[in-house]
Order: sequence, then structure tokens, then C-alpha cells
Amino acid sequence: IPLAGVIGDPISHSKSPKLHGHWLQRYGIEGHYIPLHVTEGNLATVVRALPKMGFVGANVTIPHKVSVMSLADQVSDRAILIGAANTLTFKEDGKIIADNTDGFGFMANLKENAPDWDPKAAPAVVFGAGGAARAVLVALADAGVPEILLSNRTRPKAEALKSEFGTRIKVVDWVQAGNVLEDASLVVNTTSLGMKGQPELRVPLDGLNADTLVNDLVYSPIQTQLLRTASEMGCKTVDGLGMLLHQAVPGFERWFGTTPDVDEDLRRAVL
Ligand code: ATR
Repeated sequence: IPLAGVIGDPISHSKSPKLHGHWLQRYGIEGHYIPLHVTEGNLATVVRALPKMGFVGANVTIPHKVSVMSLADQVSDRAILIGAANTLTFKEDGKIIADNTDGFGFMANLKENAPDWDPKAAPAVVFGAGGAARAVLVALADAGVPEILLSNRTRPKAEALKSEFGTRIKVVDWVQAGNVLEDASLVVNTTSLGMKGQPELRVPLDGLNADTLVNDLVYSPIQTQLLRTASEMGCKTVDGLGMLLHQAVPGFERWFGTTPDVDEDLRRAVL
């Protein structure tokens, strides 16, 4: 019986077991997906042991997404670019492959929920310069977005991403972020602002156009203040849960041999 799981510290909050568990049940696959609480000091031992215990793969979450890359025999180009891995696949010959599916999940979520959005048409505005922003920037550049206006509270972190990812990024001061929304085809929040227990995002949204697509990576709550305000202004909005669901697809497909569907049933199972 094939096994998979998610490795993190803490791990009890992870929605991945519900997500993969739902798919296993729906497709009648004999397999199990379990949460694995692993501390930094035990990461290498655990990752090397998993394939020997019948595991076909694993997701990796905070705080191991960066350090796990050095344990893999092969790291995908996407994971190298993003600088982190979230999906491990254990091959039959014992090799460990590390990949990052966050950028894929981000883009698949937008394609599913906003099929009319044309990434090539106009600039995108991205709030935040952390790990989630890296995956989003790589995906947007890949999709041919002409310009990315990047704004972060700590400006040097945005500058560093610009020097790493290139000329298409323009850094905008955090206090100016509200002034660059007008011409955007997409606005994305990758910061933790608006998450349960965190402060709200305070960027003024008056400049937002009704034809701009607004996406929040925060999915707890599902309807953030940013999405509510944008929606009230007539914008199309996409919540962050879809990215979580879609990023899980490539792993499930590789491990269990079935391409799973992302639909309302799955959303209900995970919430
Ligand atoms: P993730 O992996 O979710 O991106 P992260 O790498 O810790 O997490 O990044 C968190 C992001 O949220 C950063 O862009 C951070 O801004 P700073 O680089 O200035 O720290 C942003 N963030 C978190 N709390 C914030 C706050 N109170 N105000 C503004 N930005 C905040």
C-alpha cells in the first residue's frame, strides 16, 4: 500500500492530509496520507528513511521547504528558481526528487477561477517579498506578465528579489503601493496580512479598477478584507484556498497515478 505524507513543524494545522485523504477515498485508491511532525534536527534521518518504509512521496511545509533541497538527489529547475521545495517523490531506485508546485498551484487557481485574465495584457502588482512571493514571481514571469510592481514593508527584500529575478520587476515603496494599482490586470497579496490573528492589509484600494483581478493567498479566512473591498469595487476576486488545492495535484498524480480533480467537493472537505 503506497504511503505519502506531509513533513513540517508544527504540522497539526496542515490541510494536506484532508485534501489527499479526500482524493484517495474518491478515487478508491488503496493508500494513506499522514501528517508527519518532524523537527529540523531529525529531517535528514526521516527523509532518508521514508522511501524504505513504503513512502512514495511527501509534501514539505514550514520550516523545511529550503533545507530539504540539500537532501534530494535531484532538484527541479522550478524549485531551484523559487529556492524552496514542497513536493518530494521517492523513485523506485531510491532517488529523492524535489520539486516546487506552489507556482503551478497559483497559476492553475487563477486559470480555473478567472479564465478571462490575460497575464500578458498589463502589469501585475504583488504585495510581499517572502517565500510565497518568490513562487508567485516565478510563475508570473513564466506566464509572460510584462511588468511586475513589487511592494514590501521591508523594501530591501523586494530589491533583493528584483536583482535575483530580473528587469521585469519594479520595486514600489510600501507607502506608495496604493498608487500603482490603476493599470494592473492583477493584484496579489502574498503577505500574511489579513490572516486570522494578523493585522489587516492597509494599502489604500481606491485606485483599483473594476477590471482588475484581485487574488489573496491568505485563505483563513476565505473572504479576506482585501477580497471583500475589491469585490465591493466591482473587481473579480479569487481566494487563496484554490492555490493550496491546485499545488497538491502534481504530487498526488506522481505518487498515486491519477490526476485528481479540484472542485467544490474538495473545497468542502478541506475547509
Ligand atoms: P511566506 O512564506 O508566507 O511568504 P514569509 O517568508 O515569512 O512568509 O513572508 C511574510 C511576508 O509578509 C513578508 O513579505 C512580510 O513583510 P516583511 O518582509 O517586511 O517582513 C509580510 N508581512 C508580515 N507581517 C507584516 C506586517 N505586519 N506588515 C507588512 N508586511 C508584513
